[in-house]
Amino acid sequence: MNKIALIVGARPNFMKIAPIERECQHRGIQTILIHTGQHYDYNMSEIFFKDLNIREPDIHLNVGSDSHAKQTAKIMIEFEKVCIDENPSLVLVVGDVNSTIACTIVAKKMNIPVAHVEAGLRSGDRSMPEEINRILTDSISDLLLTPSIDGNENLLSEGIPSDRIHFVGNIMIDSLYDAIERCNGIKSDLSLPDKYGLLTLHRPSNVDDKSKLTEIIQTIIEISNHIKIFFPIHPRTKNKLIEFGLMSTLKSSDDIILTEPLGYLDFIQAMSSSSLILTDSGGLQEETTALGIPCLTIRENTERPITILEGTNTLVGTSKSKILEEFYTLKSKDFSSNGKKPKFWDGRTSSRIIDVVEGYLND
Ligand code: UD1
Repeated sequence: MNKIALIVGARPNFMKIAPIERECQHRGIQTILIHTGQHYDYNMSEIFFKDLNIREPDIHLNVGSDSHAKQTAKIMIEFEKVCIDENPSLVLVVGDVNSTIACTIVAKKMNIPVAHVEAGLRSGDRSMPEEINRILTDSISDLLLTPSIDGNENLLSEGIPSDRIHFVGNIMIDSLYDAIERCNGIKSDLSLPDKYGLLTLHRPSNVDDKSKLTEIIQTIIEISNHIKIFFPIHPRTKNKLIEFGLMSTLKSSDDIILTEPLGYLDFIQAMSSSSLILTDSGGLQEETTALGIPCLTIRENTERPITILEGTNTLVGTSKSKILEEFYTLKSKDFSSNGKKPKFWDGRTSSRIIDVVEGYLND
């Protein structure tokens, strides 16, 4: 009987694995759920298992935070033992975090096939750790499951054979629609203002550099004179705000509401009631496109260009003048935006993924 190893490690993995795990259960496929422990705080990990109704991981590698090399290496050492003991028929990895590449390398060197969900995305920026993880994972995986058609084009242009590439749609949207349905009618207890923008920041390129982070925070303070800002703070960003002496500035503002990172259901509620999103996250660019909410992406590039071409996303860079210019344009339109949902962002991606995986394993 086939046994699929499902890998999760960091926050953005949980909402991608949840619908896949459910689909496997539904079809009676045996799975083994492995949490690398890359993210470990309650509100970066455990709460997502509750909110997304994911079962307890079967195996926890407990690797924790470290430098990239050490974290990746620790995952590889621990995951190799799991592969020896469990001998999975296939390893399924998602996204672009260190856990994704670490488990892919281990599996491939043991001749275990790998399916990569969210394959083919490229920012073109090789200074991003995630871009390196994407390129390497895609180059050796057996099944490349893409969220949008630009993913297929990127992979083909890198010389990957077309029979490895399958356009299945965006798995994040399966969890998003499920959560929206479950949140409907439930009043949020987050004490959100009537009208607000939601801010998230965590990219090392934005938060690790003092002058860059200072400029972004000054921009946000200016924006908060026009619309209140709700800001759940990622642990990396919190550490940097404290280190650079910016936390007290934020705390002294009445128009910026700071909170710890939110669980999935709270976050979806906060996002779906917001007037706009300011972010450097990848997932939020997609979720806002699916929800029709305007998104200003505080980065110089994106691996998700379809959210700009078809959706509600605008790339605003990281300079104060450009972010403000786009903000004032949006404000003049009372934060309205028009976009359409890309093909296969329909809540049924998990089923297409498992069709491809089953087809491969039963071939
Ligand atoms: C990682 C991913 C990134 C993803 C992001 C989402 C990589 C290379 N990066 O970046 O793609 O978008 O997660 O959150 O895999 N920390 C805690 N508690 C936790 C987790 C982390 O306090 O539960 C702290 C760490 O100690 C560290 C910082 O947060 O100081 C950064 O964590 P890390 O997992 O290294 O990278 P992220 O920036 O979260």
